[in-house]
Amino acid sequence: MALIDIPKVIAHRGASGTAPENTLVAIVRASDLGVTAVELDVTISSDGIAVMLHDENVDRTSNGNGLITQKTINEIQKLDAGSWFDGTFAGEPIPTLKQAMKTINKHKLFFNMEIKPSAGLEEKTAKIVADEVNKNWQANAPMLVSSTSEVCLQTFQKINPQMPCGLIVDNVPENWREIMQRNNCVSIHFHYSNANLELVKEIKSAGYSALVYTVDDPMAAKDMFVMGVDGVFTNFPEMIMPVTECGSTN
Ligand code: G3P
Ligand code: MG
Repeated sequence: MALIDIPKVIAHRGASGTAPENTLVAIVRASDLGVTAVELDVTISSDGIAVMLHDENVDRTSNGNGLITQKTINEIQKLDAGSWFDGTFAGEPIPTLKQAMKTINKHKLFFNMEIKPSAGLEEKTAKIVADEVNKNWQANAPMLVSSTSEVCLQTFQKINPQMPCGLIVDNVPENWREIMQRNNCVSIHFHYSNANLELVKEIKSAGYSALVYTVDDPMAAKDMFVMGVDGVFTNFPEMIMPVTECGSTN
């Protein structure tokens, strides 16, 4: 299985340490900081539109409340997803996947799209997201699709078999090889506290990329690069980029 060229630093939920997560301004901020990749979470509205949101509800990251599955796209896009973070971002909307992809393509960024389905909507979410990617993602622009949901990964690949996919776990399970194979994944994304030299070596010698989340401490990031991880997710790419030359990642 071919390794794909994954940037070493990936802005987690956009540059979410200094801008509201999963918004267009967080994507632009990442680009302005000089980072070449963003990770964003995608789910769906009640009327089946793919939107960028981490949680199952809008409470934490907007001025609204309630489940995303119970809101139409019109209701969602009226919400303010910026003020909770800082008043200077007041009025920043929750973007659709289409809007996010347009901004990512405009800034020529690598996109790690995490499919984050509401419970029970795994297949439906992956189908909608895959169709949207096929319609609106710029041809040949770099994307890696990831999810904790095997249903999402497999459903997405049925519609878009060319897209590289990654499996997200907290701790890498014993049978990771089997899970990676049955989901046709090229990368495994796990919590950095569960990384160690031997594990990273095993993953890489099996032909997969090892990515770790969420690393905001430059010393911890340095340890990860020395172990040989291929990339780290961080809310503060400006703090992690200076240590990317530590260790060798390939
Ligand atoms: O994909 C890495 C990371 O984003 C997974 O955790 O909860 O921040 O989406 P979470
Ligand atoms: Mg995520």
